Amino acid sequence: MSTQNILSTLFPALADIPEPYRPGEPIEQREYLVEGTLRTWNGPLAAVRSPVYLDVDGVDEQVILGSTPLLDAETALTALDAAVRAYDRGQGSWPTMRVAERIQHVEAFLGRMREQRTAVVKLLMWEIGKNLKDSEKEFDRTCDYIVDTINALKELDRRSSRFELEQDTLGQIRRVPLGVALCMGPYNYPLNETFTTLIPALIMGNTVVFKPAKLGVLLIRPLLEAFRDSFPAGVINVIYGSGRETVSALMASGKIDIFAFIGTNKAASDLKKLHPKPHRLRAALGLDAKNPGIVLPEVDLDNAVNEAVTGSLSFNGQRCTALKILFVHEEVVDRFIEKFNHKLATLKPGMPWENGVALTPLPESGKVDYLHGLMDDAVRKGAKVINTHGGQARGSFFYPAVLYPVTTDMRVYQEEQFGPVVPIVPYRDLDTVIDYVLESDFGQQLSLFGTNAAEVGRLVDTFANQVGRININAQCQRGPDTFPFNGRKNSAEGTLSVHDALRTFSIRTLVATKFQESNKTLISDIIRGRESSFLTTDYIF
Ligand code: G3H
Repeated sequence: MSTQNILSTLFPALADIPEPYRPGEPIEQREYLVEGTLRTWNGPLAAVRSPVYLDVDGVDEQVILGSTPLLDAETALTALDAAVRAYDRGQGSWPTMRVAERIQHVEAFLGRMREQRTAVVKLLMWEIGKNLKDSEKEFDRTCDYIVDTINALKELDRRSSRFELEQDTLGQIRRVPLGVALCMGPYNYPLNETFTTLIPALIMGNTVVFKPAKLGVLLIRPLLEAFRDSFPAGVINVIYGSGRETVSALMASGKIDIFAFIGTNKAASDLKKLHPKPHRLRAALGLDAKNPGIVLPEVDLDNAVNEAVTGSLSFNGQRCTALKILFVHEEVVDRFIEKFNHKLATLKPGMPWENGVALTPLPESGKVDYLHGLMDDAVRKGAKVINTHGGQARGSFFYPAVLYPVTTDMRVYQEEQFGPVVPIVPYRDLDTVIDYVLESDFGQQLSLFGTNAAEVGRLVDTFANQVGRININAQCQRGPDTFPFNGRKNSAEGTLSVHDALRTFSIRTLVATKFQESNKTLISDIIRGRESSFLTTDYIF
């Protein structure tokens, strides 16, 4: 079927949607979670629009999924106060609880969360247009992340349960919480990326204010009762509304101790600046990226193409780790483009729930116009859209556009498109590519495609001090979640992985004493009499 035909039949009539995936009645959400209670917001609401349109008698109508509370600053601050009270200057029941007990709370939450898989997956499809397979993967990967986090904490705690003797000093070192965490995730992974900060923050004994992403908001609703019932009051608070109104007030209060944010570096910097005591704020940030894919002249072209297509276009290019610019050596560029376009033509456009669908509507309003702007700019400056139907659009759907040859003066050479536009830059001299990476404002990851050991080895060394991960003959990606995920320059602050996140959301405290009889007796008595949660040799199995 030609793309033209695909676009003309893209949006379904309601009756064409299989029953389990049909949208229900719009959800008017007024609840938000503060201090263990689902409170009702009687103020203004924000409409939740789906990227999916329905064909209603030949007219495309955007589906309204419901609405969410637009809390004001004063209400957001009540959530912060609840978190501050639950932390109680480190004396609250949660930050002082034994690790094994905190783990039980998180396990209880995980059990309740699993019950909501169908509801959350459906909302992932309808709210952000993620296809069924990837929506299910996002949910399952998040559950796995929680399990892995629990296991990593058990391991950490086991190691902390022993005493160390150094230079006649006896010590026990444990990781303890930092205070109140503000956790905010991105719209492209509204569940997974948010939970990769939220869960470590909670399990380490911090209390949390969680504000869902700008899109993918309703999908948190099925989890509110699970949060409420699984944790002591005030430990987890969930707020909604505009970041400018709510989050600015939270940061300006000076009561946030950890700022976990996935979004743009500009927003992160603006928010950090509002904190009156910046030295007391720890930040865990996942920010912008413009990861290049570099195709060398000696290369397994089929593999490079396969990886470049998924790397640049899975979830329509809306991944922070997506390949956002491809540098292809001029000796292979023609063959690369031919194969790339061939592969791209096999990607099926459609609705998220349809079998095998790879290209779906985009959730951000104004995104299609923005991508057309990037495309027009490149074309004005000498590039061509070199794939059939590239850039054709209908409503919120944008068919991927491959732009070639892209040059330094085009916007798409620098701007993070975060969407289905694939810029290809031909090069002869590798120094052009090296300079791009060295000069870039971003430094998350890159991909090297090549088979010449000397060349690949040299480039690994050249780029090792530039980015957080170099992928050889593979697309960029975050996983496996046990590997460090970070970035340099404007791309991140701190490192996340199952292991690192536990450390990011905690600090080591050491209890030390001179190794002499009276102290040995005292410490033994404390342990035997179970007088302390910190000083204990309890071992979690
Ligand atoms: O959007 C950024 C995500 O962390 C990317 O994760 O590489 O697993 O898609 P992913």
